[in-house]
Amino acid sequence: MRDLRDKYIALIADAPDEATLEDLRVQAVGKKGEVSLQMRALGKMTPEERQVAGPALNALKDEINSALSAKKAAMADAALDERLRTEWLDVTLPGRPRRAGTIHPISQVSEEVTAIFADMGFAVAEGPQIESDWYNFDALNIPSHHPARAEMDTFYTRRGADDDRPPHVLRTHTSPVQIRTMQAEGAPLRVIAPGRVYRADYDQTHTPMFHQVEGLAIDKDISMANLKWCLEEFVKAFFEVEDVELRFRASHFPFTEPSAEVDIRCSWEGGTLKIGEGDDWLEILGSGMVHPKVLEAGNINPDEWQGFAFGVGIDRIAMLKYGIPDLRAFFDSDLRWLRHYGFAGLDVPTLHGGLSR
Ligand code: DAH
Repeated sequence: MRDLRDKYIALIADAPDEATLEDLRVQAVGKKGEVSLQMRALGKMTPEERQVAGPALNALKDEINSALSAKKAAMADAALDERLRTEWLDVTLPGRPRRAGTIHPISQVSEEVTAIFADMGFAVAEGPQIESDWYNFDALNIPSHHPARAEMDTFYTRRGADDDRPPHVLRTHTSPVQIRTMQAEGAPLRVIAPGRVYRADYDQTHTPMFHQVEGLAIDKDISMANLKWCLEEFVKAFFEVEDVELRFRASHFPFTEPSAEVDIRCSWEGGTLKIGEGDDWLEILGSGMVHPKVLEAGNINPDEWQGFAFGVGIDRIAMLKYGIPDLRAFFDSDLRWLRHYGFAGLDVPTLHGGLSR
């Protein structure tokens, strides 16, 4: 019995893990373990022998059980110590500095444009970027055979093989929002619609996705004079200059009659652009009086109402204002570029607080 005790106490002391401990428990004091087998043999002993062997076997069983639980507890302590040693964390260390994000110049300029027109009483309207060809073309007086459709490098969506309805398009301009807003709200109306537009074109001044802001004002006696005043106010506020000269050049758009492209006086002296002075002209937008057919498409009676509309390239005026040379860089997501041209998150553009500080 002495041997049995010494053997198991030594084995338990050396056990490397809990699984070994469990094996030892089964071998020693499990139902068919060595100690239990000896206990079973008690029956064959004489009463005298049994009186000695019985308590001794019970004591051995207790001793082995205590050794097992002591070793188990020691293992748990060691495991906890090991975790505490490897998983520590110094909560008094200073936080890691995180670089602040920046507002993208396109977002900034959209906010600036919105602030300026909001001040003139224009609300913001929206429309889908995947548009039916009716809203993108027909309703704007651009029928199927019209060359403007080909000129716009339209992205078409694909329909199912047995679906012969005309495909949807990625809107090629923000002008369809004119129709949607007229239909939804009727006249009178004063909205701008900033947003993404798409054309299959790619070089230093064209990307397949870019941004426009549409303007639309409808009332009983709106004229080109109102258009001119609004655009002058806009250009002065946007480029943050006291005076600016606009040139209205006769042009043609299917959705306006008459139509005008608008240039601003500028100079490129020394390679930098100055707005409002010099002998050069820079084209910045298309505009005109809303065509009667377009009013009709928007369910507005052209005998009663008239209006002006304009469309400006947001990316283009952002490049001009902030001296950004390559349009493609806008959409490269290059962090160095974004940090250089980006705007601080809290500088919300307002007319009273300054647009671009
Ligand atoms: N939709 C035109 C384009 O994408 C821009 C435009 C021109 C919009 C004249 C207008 C407008 O509202 O009156 O090129």
